[in-house]
Amino acid sequence: MKLSPRGAMDFAQDLKSQIDIVRVISDYVPRLRRFGNRYSGLCPFHNEKTPSFSIYAEHQFYKCYGCDAKGDVFNFVMTIEGLTFWEALKKLAEQHGIPLPKQSQASDDKTRLRAALYEIHEIAAAHFQANLGANNAAPVRAYLKQRGVTQDSAEQFQLGLSDKTGRTLLRLLEQRGFKPDQMVPSGLIGRGEDGSLYDRFRNRVMFPIHSESGKIIAFGGRALDPEDKAKYINSIETEIYKKGSVLYNLNRAKLAASKQDRIVLVEGYMDVIGAAQAGVTEVVASCGTALTTEQIRAMKRHSQNLHLNFDPDAAGAKASERSISLLLDENMHVRMVELEGGLDPDEFCKEHGADVYRARVAGAKDYFYWLADRARARYNMREPQGRIEVFQFLLPAIQTLNDKLKRAAVASDLASYLGVDSGSVLEQFRKMAADRVERNIAPAQADPAKATDRILLPLLLSNADARGELIGGLREIAALQQGPTAKIYATLMAMHEAGDPIGFNSVHERLAPEDQERLASIVLDPAAVPDSGEDGAGLENGRACLNALLRDEREARRRELKVRIRQAEREGRMQDALRLMSELGE
Ligand code: UTP
Ligand code: MN
Repeated sequence: MKLSPRGAMDFAQDLKSQIDIVRVISDYVPRLRRFGNRYSGLCPFHNEKTPSFSIYAEHQFYKCYGCDAKGDVFNFVMTIEGLTFWEALKKLAEQHGIPLPKQSQASDDKTRLRAALYEIHEIAAAHFQANLGANNAAPVRAYLKQRGVTQDSAEQFQLGLSDKTGRTLLRLLEQRGFKPDQMVPSGLIGRGEDGSLYDRFRNRVMFPIHSESGKIIAFGGRALDPEDKAKYINSIETEIYKKGSVLYNLNRAKLAASKQDRIVLVEGYMDVIGAAQAGVTEVVASCGTALTTEQIRAMKRHSQNLHLNFDPDAAGAKASERSISLLLDENMHVRMVELEGGLDPDEFCKEHGADVYRARVAGAKDYFYWLADRARARYNMREPQGRIEVFQFLLPAIQTLNDKLKRAAVASDLASYLGVDSGSVLEQFRKMAADRVERNIAPAQADPAKATDRILLPLLLSNADARGELIGGLREIAALQQGPTAKIYATLMAMHEAGDPIGFNSVHERLAPEDQERLASIVLDPAAVPDSGEDGAGLENGRACLNALLRDEREARRRELKVRIRQAEREGRMQDALRLMSELGE
């Protein structure tokens, strides 16, 4: 039996009514503070120091006024865990010990495809591993050995080999019953112009890439043939692999990272293996793509202390510079691991041994010394102009430091490191650094809601008596049919007419995104007037509002009539003028 989408939505609604959004979110957002029915904390979706994230227990809804994240408990779990709707539903049901209706997890195409892709990756990894263990792979094993990869590491990192024929994985997957519309979206199988299928990875050492929770979601493949044009080929993005949100080895590194409260970031697969072999197991790699904020947040969940150890070449230095400002933006504490001899971490470990590498990691200095070295190499410190340029180069990084004292300390450290005494340049620099105004994101509000909206909408959503009494009158108000909230009122009134259940969620659900946004910002506004108050104050305010609107309406109509009367008189249309005047009298 397959659950109909209707039945599934009912189940979702049921589930939602049984779980407490505040409890669910409190697992991800520590230190929630309560203000009546509203809970407030630091937003888990963007970086902030003062809370702009709110949960409205009564509406089972969350909203961040800083980054505009919002939704119900399903949206929250989908976003923070990167899940589809079905996966979030399943997770929440399981967490709360609520049995899922049979097969509901299979009723979503996307979830089904993702399940197939995970399976394909498992099969592929086992297949590649078997290839590497086979007799004919002795030269490849020798290559790995010569590169310093131990047998243990090869197993631990599940290294494998894709063979030269270019069809073996394809045949294996076909045997296991996978169809082209599953194999091709996995990214492991390509489709030629003539429509024929082939293995995308051939004759390469295969590095499985895992999600943070340990599922294989992609591969990197290193060429064995030096003639091969691409040294590395990586999986394309798929339904289960988004490059910008994955770090190689985070699944293994995260435990060590939180234990040591430190995480080492390197560039490549081989660097990860080299460092891990040297005993630095809290190591991850960005794998040839520019570091993203998402990746930084994934690391930050395990430790805020980041040791950056990119390649020492020009490209690596450029990437380091860029990464430093991104990391500082996310409040990470950044240190630079410096390795002499132009060696990357893997080569350095091989050349100097584990102890020396560990000592370099332990001795990593704050990022600003590294930046100062870069600046010194670039500008002429003997010239006053050069010194100013150096500080201008350094300023942005120092400015992102939030702590005033820390900023001043870094500034004076840097001055002495650069051999500048506390002259005018340092003074100026200190001032600039200290003057930094904390970046505050203004709450996203498209158009400031009118007072009437702030009174009427919460009231109409939560109080059936108010709806019964006020909606008839509100229908006559032209102003409500024109303003930015016109569609909200129209929807609410239509639902009232049809006898549909009315509440924040049911109305919100029927609106277009920009109106949803508007409704949320009006109704959920922490400054909003309390709505349904038992004492009837809400309804009293609503009546006053309706009366004011009726008065305005009459006033506007009177003004309009006067204009028309004057116009008719000017044009000599006396008949018309008289008719309009009697209308005005009414
Ligand atoms: P490197 O060129 O530094 O390679 O690229 P490596 O990791 O030191 O590997 P070996 O020692 O030469 O075997 C660093 C990372 O950048 C990505 C890979 O993730 C690689 O590990 N990369 C590099 C690519 O994606 N494609 C490439 O062609 C090269
Ligand atoms: Mn290398």
